[in-house]
Amino acid sequence: MVFQATTSAPVNIACIKYWGKRDTSLILPTNSSLSVTLDQDHLRSTTTSRADPSFTSDRLWLNGKEEIVKDGGRMSTCIKEMKRLRKELVEDKDPKAPQLSTFSVHIASYNNFPTAAGLASSASGFAALVSSLAALYALPCPPTTLSLIARQGSGSACRSLLGGFVAWEQGSQSNGLDSHAVQVAPESHWPTMHALICVVNDAKKGTSSTSGMQRTVETSPLLQHRIKHVVPQRMIDISKAILEKDFDSFARITMADSNQFHAVALDTSPPIFYMNDVSRAIIAVVEEYNRVAVETTGKVKAAYTFDAGPNAVIYTEEANVKEIIEMIVKFFPQQEKFKDPFGLFGAQGLGEGKLPQGFNEAVAKTWELGSVKGLIHTKIGGGPRVLDEAEALLNAEGTPK
Ligand code: DP6
Repeated sequence: MVFQATTSAPVNIACIKYWGKRDTSLILPTNSSLSVTLDQDHLRSTTTSRADPSFTSDRLWLNGKEEIVKDGGRMSTCIKEMKRLRKELVEDKDPKAPQLSTFSVHIASYNNFPTAAGLASSASGFAALVSSLAALYALPCPPTTLSLIARQGSGSACRSLLGGFVAWEQGSQSNGLDSHAVQVAPESHWPTMHALICVVNDAKKGTSSTSGMQRTVETSPLLQHRIKHVVPQRMIDISKAILEKDFDSFARITMADSNQFHAVALDTSPPIFYMNDVSRAIIAVVEEYNRVAVETTGKVKAAYTFDAGPNAVIYTEEANVKEIIEMIVKFFPQQEKFKDPFGLFGAQGLGEGKLPQGFNEAVAKTWELGSVKGLIHTKIGGGPRVLDEAEALLNAEGTPK
């Protein structure tokens, strides 16, 4: 009998950023946050977990390479917590159930997007780890309960346990039991929400989120203002905007919060810079696009957001996707012809990048080829999926295929 399960989990990109921990070992945040889950058809982590009495230790391979599961480390904490849930929720209640919590596990995980693209993989990775163990252990747990464990792998991972629009409620208990993810609205609520990821060329290795946010907590006075006086109202306002499908408010809050996150990074001592000149040029182009849109319709049509690196994610509604891609490709020429995964461009395909009437082209120069080294067009998507045996990543011996 092989005890094994394979699942995939999505990437999420925050509109209200998590930046700061009040407890670094349990990973409890200084503020609530909210994200959009992206479609796993384009970006996902897939993980196979197997429990077997012949395994002598917990082992994990990431993209084929073995990672050391350090005792007390984040991976080991997640595995331990999942074994504890298996024991409490299944084995203690049914003594005839296989005692899987006493077996070591082998885990193989694979990201379908290049780590070199600079896209955060920890969120989808830990969500896939937790969801594959939950499937292996047949845990009768809702995603919110599992999010408590994914959170201890990487804070932002707790939001990848659910699809659609997801809030991570900071909670107030010191044991962290109320610091979990909840769904604000499922992906079906606003299916016209699209995301365009602009992968910005970046040679240097930046400050990691974990160490960067800790330095911000220790040194930034602006962070205290953000936590107390800005984020609580934004969480209320953006949730309302989502429920009402009010893109204008959603976009304005998303952009303001990205900018404030980068402002608290700058307010850190020594300062942290995650965006570069290309990132700032993308902001200038989107802001000009929105200025023209507001002049004609009274509403903005696109929202940029940046995490702990120079890549941009642009949220927009389906009707504007083609226009925005044409605009981005005009300022940031692409080596490869852009593919149209959703068939939105019509028979003529992508146009020559005619800008909307009144657009001031002088806001940005035409950048050299490769400044934005790739574009990934995706949509809002659902939570983790259980996959069938054929997709398993472990071979008969329990090592990666
Ligand atoms: C800027 O979740 O990667 O993407 O909890 O230390 O693993 P750790 O940090 P991580 O931080 C993510 C920061 C962010 C904002 C966000 O996703 O909310």
